[in-house]
Amino acid sequence: MKITVVGSGGWGTALALLLLENGNDVTLWSYHEAESKILRETHENPMLKGVPLPEELKFTTDLAAVKGCGLVVLATPSFAVRSTAAQLKNLMDPGTIVVSVSKGIEKDSSLRLSQVIEQELDGKCPVVVLSGPSHAEEVGRHIPTGVVAAADDLAVAQKVQDTFMNKRFRVYTSDDKVGTEICAALKNIIALCAGCCDGMGYGDNTKALLMTRGLAEMARLGVALGGKKETFTGLAGVGDLIVTCCSMHSRNRRCGILIGQGMPVEEAVKEIGAVVEGYYAAANARTLAQKAGVEMPIAQAAYEVLYEGRDVHGVVADLMTRAKRSEHDESWEPLAQ
Ligand SMILES: NC(=O)c1ccc[n+]([C@@H]2O[C@H](COP(=O)([O-])OP(=O)(O)OC[C@H]3O[C@@H](n4cnc5c(N)ncnc54)[C@H](O)[C@@H]3O)[C@@H](O)[C@H]2O)c1
Repeated sequence: MKITVVGSGGWGTALALLLLENGNDVTLWSYHEAESKILRETHENPMLKGVPLPEELKFTTDLAAVKGCGLVVLATPSFAVRSTAAQLKNLMDPGTIVVSVSKGIEKDSSLRLSQVIEQELDGKCPVVVLSGPSHAEEVGRHIPTGVVAAADDLAVAQKVQDTFMNKRFRVYTSDDKVGTEICAALKNIIALCAGCCDGMGYGDNTKALLMTRGLAEMARLGVALGGKKETFTGLAGVGDLIVTCCSMHSRNRRCGILIGQGMPVEEAVKEIGAVVEGYYAAANARTLAQKAGVEMPIAQAAYEVLYEGRDVHGVVADLMTRAKRSEHDESWEPLAQ
């Protein structure tokens, strides 16, 4: 099948290699000409050091490459999804499957990224969300990995499963796009917080507390928006949360470590040198949670540190001294607005 991967960061490149390995005719689109030139000339992506890019992989900066494709992967940072999808509108053949692999929530509109793509493409292409515990660095090195392909129409999710799956990359189908995308966006906030805890010298107890309560509030929002509770205990939920909060591959966690060690937020985000989705997600999730009337104390604390200059120790003290409650007295109903 002819496939174009739009976005040549670490993730787009790792997926392009996987799809090429599965026998497809793959083109990798770069936003910057300079980036495409490096890929073409060095046959290596600096974001995926040590992973050779084979001769058969094509490189372009022309979005017209999506014409005639059976499947297009959208792998830009979340802030660029709308502008990129808008440019694709008149180029895509109706019916081409779009696989959304970016993780985030759109600023201002608070829309999930598949909703943004659907809007821009006028609903003429089915959109599938691919998400799960999958560091590009490991997928690029053929480390066994498992993800979820979520779509409204399970037959389309199965097509994506067939296209991506191989003996080192396992794909499960799901009909819960809402839950899958909320997991994908929110886990990056929790990973930033996990990094902060590490940077502040806290231990495993703190991280386990943060991840578990973080998952509870992710699910609270996801279910209020129509997602399925079980998605949050699956690969896109707890699976991705484990990988992002515990690994040094996670740029969100690494950014959090710097902040926890006392580096100013803007400097820490810059220091990482690649998109830190949790930074954007903290602001966008807060807006979304407020609109849905859902309480998210950890995401709120992250927002206060990232955007209001609050001290990390102060927000931890606030979280630890919140009102007493029973672990399972969560109401799955939205709070009164
Ligand atoms: N890296 C991973 O392991 C991984 C895994 C799963 C999902 N993701 C998600 O995939 C998305 C991309 O992540 P990445 O790791 O490949 O990013 P990256 O930081 O490695 O690369 C970002 C890419 O976006 C391009 N870009 C920058 N501005 C752009 C614009 N305005 N329009 C279009 N493209 C632009 C850059 O040229 C670069 O190629 C993110 O949403 C991320 O959360 C990443």
